[in-house]
Amino acid sequence: MQFEEFKQRRQALAAQMGQGIALIPTAPEATRNRDSHYPYRFDSYFYYLTGFDEPEAVLLLIAGEQTKSILFCRDKHLEREIWDGFRHGPAGAQEKFGFDEAYSIDELDQRIAELLANQPSLHFSLGADAGWDKRVTGWLKELSAQARSGIAAPAAIQDVRRLIDEMRLIKSPAELEIMRKAAQITVQAHQRAMRATQPGMMEYEIEAEVLHEFMRHGSRAPAYTSIVAGGANACVLHYISNQDQLKSGDLLLIDAGCELSGYAADITRTFPVNGKFSAVQKDVYELVLAAQAAAIAEVRPGQHWNAAHEAALNILVQGFIDFGLCQGSLEGVLESGDYRRFYMHRTGHWLGLDVHDAGEYKNAAENWRPLMPGMVLTVEPGCYIRPADDVPEAFWNIGIRIEDNAVVTTQGCDILTSGAPKTVQEIESWMAGHE
Ligand code: GLY
Ligand code: MN
Ligand code: MN
Repeated sequence: MQFEEFKQRRQALAAQMGQGIALIPTAPEATRNRDSHYPYRFDSYFYYLTGFDEPEAVLLLIAGEQTKSILFCRDKHLEREIWDGFRHGPAGAQEKFGFDEAYSIDELDQRIAELLANQPSLHFSLGADAGWDKRVTGWLKELSAQARSGIAAPAAIQDVRRLIDEMRLIKSPAELEIMRKAAQITVQAHQRAMRATQPGMMEYEIEAEVLHEFMRHGSRAPAYTSIVAGGANACVLHYISNQDQLKSGDLLLIDAGCELSGYAADITRTFPVNGKFSAVQKDVYELVLAAQAAAIAEVRPGQHWNAAHEAALNILVQGFIDFGLCQGSLEGVLESGDYRRFYMHRTGHWLGLDVHDAGEYKNAAENWRPLMPGMVLTVEPGCYIRPADDVPEAFWNIGIRIEDNAVVTTQGCDILTSGAPKTVQEIESWMAGHE
């Protein structure tokens, strides 16, 4: 993505702030143990406004008659760069990323008072990180102590995330291009995993197929820990141990998505380990598929956020009644919530830099917000049937979810992930080696 786009985002944020200063730190490095770190992942808000992916960096954005963006980042360091790799350094970052000024992160404490002084408001994500909360409160206290010299601390602290959330909700053409690529890589990973699956294999072997496909296309990490859940494991919604053996006759649920240039894909497919759905598996699968089709039909501009969930729920609950899993009328089961035994999550979420992306689902009046072109969301109904005395045994341990990623267009929506085999016929044919 061109640095101009990040610059425009900073200007757009400043315009909404009116007068004041925003302080947006990136994420800290996380220690795995002793001196080993987890692979570094920047903070999504910071990255959205900068495109800068090094740790130990802070953006200060001054809004007013003149907008100014200042980056504090790590200095160049000959020795550390030999051990850990390249650093832009303030001068390099200023030039490459288009900041107005850039300084060493070591100068933040000494420069911050001057920057905060007499600003009417500070836009900061108070409560997001205890270390930063403490640091910021310390600076504000020091400034307040100087009131008699005519220096005022910002009178208000506002959560800067609320403004950025709204911006992040509508993806730009450049963001959509990356998300399409992330989706396509993830489609190929699911195709590969489906084709590799054989009874007797271990869940982690299939996870390896998925990760292999992500990485060989330039995705350096999955967007979230992959779920590779055979048989009963699919009824554990956040199953990630992925260590069991796959059995013929069971289904395999894979929920995996790559992260590409910071953006997530999020696909789930469920398919038979031996390549052929049993009659009951097919019935439940086709119910979830019908629920997903009904939900996707509700994803269009002007339609409210919850319409897709409501559409999926109506289909699923009628199916649960028809299968004898729930008793009573459609209205009665919806009202009592008995269906939650088998469908306990919602039908989707925003998707973007975070897999569960930023953005409110309701507007200020507490109504579900209407969808708008450029929003990206998942559509992911499911059905999870645990063994129970009142559940016919044929249904036990069937766990199915079907998840696609949709971008709202001017007419309806575009499914970014449709290349992953999805109908019973497509899955069985793909697993049998047909194109
Ligand atoms: N993979 C996380 C989710 O589907 O929400
Ligand atoms: Mn999802
Ligand atoms: Mn998912």
